[in-house]
Amino acid sequence: MIYIAVLGYGTVGSGVVEVLERNKESIRRKATDEISVKYILDLREFPGDPYEDKLVHDVNLILEDPEVSIVCETMGGVGAAYQFTKLALERGKSVCTSNKELVAAHGPELLALARAHTCNYMFEASVGGGIPIIRPLNSALTAEEIESIEGILNGTTNYILTKMEKEGADFEEMLRRAQEKGYAERNPEADVEGHDACRKLAILSSLMLGKNVSVDKIHTEGISKITAADIRYAKEAGRTIKLLGISRRVGEKVQVMVAPFLVGPDNPLHAVDGVFNAVCVTGNMLGKSMYYGKGAGKLPTASAVVGDVIDCARHLGKVITCFWDEEEADYAGLEEVENRFFLRVKTGAEEAMEALFPQGKIVRFPDRKEDFGYITVSMKEKDFQERCGILGDTVCNTIRVEG
Ligand code: HSE
Repeated sequence: MIYIAVLGYGTVGSGVVEVLERNKESIRRKATDEISVKYILDLREFPGDPYEDKLVHDVNLILEDPEVSIVCETMGGVGAAYQFTKLALERGKSVCTSNKELVAAHGPELLALARAHTCNYMFEASVGGGIPIIRPLNSALTAEEIESIEGILNGTTNYILTKMEKEGADFEEMLRRAQEKGYAERNPEADVEGHDACRKLAILSSLMLGKNVSVDKIHTEGISKITAADIRYAKEAGRTIKLLGISRRVGEKVQVMVAPFLVGPDNPLHAVDGVFNAVCVTGNMLGKSMYYGKGAGKLPTASAVVGDVIDCARHLGKVITCFWDEEEADYAGLEEVENRFFLRVKTGAEEAMEALFPQGKIVRFPDRKEDFGYITVSMKEKDFQERCGILGDTVCNTIRVEG
């Protein structure tokens, strides 16, 4: 019997217990032993819950129990979760987590700690919910030099943007619906302002480079300024709006950004709708490969945590996790990046637009008198920003155009 403990009995934690129960038989075969939840740690009481007898409030019961060899950290945050993870790893207990905030903030330290104590720190569920992407980067793709990673890394924002486009629904209502479905973070700002995608991109980029990519070095924009009008113009231009996380090697440096983009149908990410996430990895031998699936939600995320538990159970006493250095990556500035740009501009500024952004394309609707859309040719970010500054508040919104 392999005993585990679950720290945090919220959405993901209770999902972990459910996955272990529902797939008990096949998990026993794959792990080559039965996996049993011995403790569930939470500050709250759960009267009448079938697992009430496993509930504890003192983490020391878990840490001091030599029978517990694997801990699932599904608490979230970087306070108690960080302390408990360190204490568990120091006692040689492997930790499996969905906590991207913690992995992005302290990944290299926790991986080194696991290695020093011959156990594992696993975080498949921290990026893309149930999609296998950490394991491919650490195993199947290790022969590659990864050139870039581009992905839709947040289910809530992809759900909102998809619904806004398909149903003409408004932002607030769709955010509420995503929250009801359990996709959104407790603080929706983390989703809609791109911080959640930024943490996931930091993890993927660090694995791509083997060096640390910090969240505060990633240029991050969210979707809260995207309006129904922007989506309508994008559609008219044959594109859709997606919040993308992009990490690209430029020589020895890396360019990292999270921002909304107009994406065309030639990009496979164009077809990724709703709560689905997808990560497109370009390697120097394989070329492009894409990993697609449910990026949020209780059971998909819990399934990825349990997958890590099984891996740990199969490799007790062995280090199987990857390694990424504490050394900081070398970042390339965004000013030199070239993109096309979409602008929504107040009517009357047509001549100014053509003078500042020659050879662009106007997009118009007969029923919209107040503004028009404009797509520039490819130009450097710094030149674009300078010219936008000249236009001032004539510009209602700007969004980068992918490809
Ligand atoms: N709030 C996250 C999302 C959950 O919507 O993608 C999974 O990380």
